[in-house]
Amino acid sequence: MTDIEQKRDRAPVPKDWAYAPAPESRDIVRLRERYGHFVGGEWLEPTETYETISPATEEQLALIGQGTEQDVDRAVTAAREAFANGWSGLPGSERAKYLFRIARILQERSREFAVLESLNGGKPIKESRDVDLPLAAAHFFYYAGWADKLEYAFPNRRPKPVGVAGQIIPWNFPLLMLAWKIAPAIACGNTVVLKPAETTPLTALLFCDVLRQAELPPGVVNIVTGDGRTGAAIVDHEGVDKIAFTGSTEVGKAIQRRLAGTGKKLTLELGGKAANIVFDDSALDQAVEGIVNGIYFNQGHVCCAGSRLFAQESIYEPLVEKLKRRLETLRVGDPLDKNTDVGAINSQFQLEKIQELVEAGKEEGAEIYQPHCRLPEKGYWFVPTVFTNVAQSYRIAQEEIFGPVLSVLTFRTPEEAVEKANNTPYGLSAGVWTEKGSRILWMAQQLRAGVVWANTFNRFDPTSPFGGYKESGFGREGGLHGLEPYLRFDE
Ligand code: NAI
Ligand code: MG
Repeated sequence: MTDIEQKRDRAPVPKDWAYAPAPESRDIVRLRERYGHFVGGEWLEPTETYETISPATEEQLALIGQGTEQDVDRAVTAAREAFANGWSGLPGSERAKYLFRIARILQERSREFAVLESLNGGKPIKESRDVDLPLAAAHFFYYAGWADKLEYAFPNRRPKPVGVAGQIIPWNFPLLMLAWKIAPAIACGNTVVLKPAETTPLTALLFCDVLRQAELPPGVVNIVTGDGRTGAAIVDHEGVDKIAFTGSTEVGKAIQRRLAGTGKKLTLELGGKAANIVFDDSALDQAVEGIVNGIYFNQGHVCCAGSRLFAQESIYEPLVEKLKRRLETLRVGDPLDKNTDVGAINSQFQLEKIQELVEAGKEEGAEIYQPHCRLPEKGYWFVPTVFTNVAQSYRIAQEEIFGPVLSVLTFRTPEEAVEKANNTPYGLSAGVWTEKGSRILWMAQQLRAGVVWANTFNRFDPTSPFGGYKESGFGREGGLHGLEPYLRFDE
């Protein structure tokens, strides 16, 4: 217990309100020493392996297969066979049963998945438990519901599955991105070859267990692990009919160039530099919570993170003051501790990228603020950071940092807010904080962003389409729109 300070006539108050450690147990997770690729319902022995670690401790968790062109070829062949030998011809109501089963098993095993996700990726357990897992299950539930209603979703257009979908996903929401990709694909009657990101393969590999439990026919979903070379082999494989990619704009552009003229369908969900715009009539304390959720959620490893805060000049000072005070209360540390707000940075590579951009911000003349916090000695960590005095031309206002770093800018009028917010090559998301409904609607029309949140931020729902404009990519995931990339309407 903490010390109690006796205040003369008042009730005793604890001097220190710090939380006691509340670590989630790891026992529920059973790791294998070594994992292969999941192809045609079987484990394929890898020819080469690399180690996957916990970014919070740098301990090795398992050996993972580095998929070769041959591995990818076997996975595509298995997917092609499964497509032709029954899956694509199965009535939608039958396909739906498998998706419902997968959703329920994910719910039943959610604690196991949440612990593993935090262990391998570094995100706080309260996020993997309360956001990633419920949403992943919800995506399967949602698309299960569409599987037998495609004719109604697209009346008179005769929707048909596309074929084999190659899906490449990033490390910031490993299982959730898998769900976003796999659920609509198989609901529509496609089969899948999916590659998780090299740093976070473990929940995708555990998911193979769920597929077996759900008795999904072999080959409908195949998982091949490895780095960008494995991803490139999927992109280039002639037997793949559609590529869905989430990741960096750089790789997205390269994929688009490679696919030009091949006839393969493509959707890209890339980076962002979202504006979170706070007007002077908004509820400031509520806005501060939204700003914190917008940029420090998942260590800022969020493509739609609210990384540029636009504060109306008249409230700039109180807003920044409140924000700084709030930052002091964020708990940074062990991802498996139930009280942790900000976990570990996903990889050394990403940490170095954040450090480099933060240095650039300081050199260009922005003013840095970081709350006091003690970081663990091992692992990859970055203190939640706020930059003020930021000019639009600074790199920290232009480039995606993909870390817990906020750049604060100001504006005077709604027109100026729109102009500055849209002054970016990206266009994935935006936030507007104001009491005026008419202003929310006007702003939402003006902002070039795929998602505009009003008086909230980083809210996701499987029924709501998500995707970008400009260099944030094209195509939508989620909702009715999310079915379209997995269907063809040609005959
Ligand atoms: P990345 O784009 O290289 O990786 C994403 C996925 O693409 C991974 O599965 C990777 O193995 C795969 N990949 C890499 N090169 C490929 C290629 N030539 N062909 C096919 N697949 C390939 O992203 P990275 O290097 O992990 O992060 C770099 C930056 O990208 C981050 O700092 C961040 O700014 C941004 N990023 C954005 C994400 C988003 O959700 N929009 C997710 C991850 C990163
Ligand atoms: Mg890369």
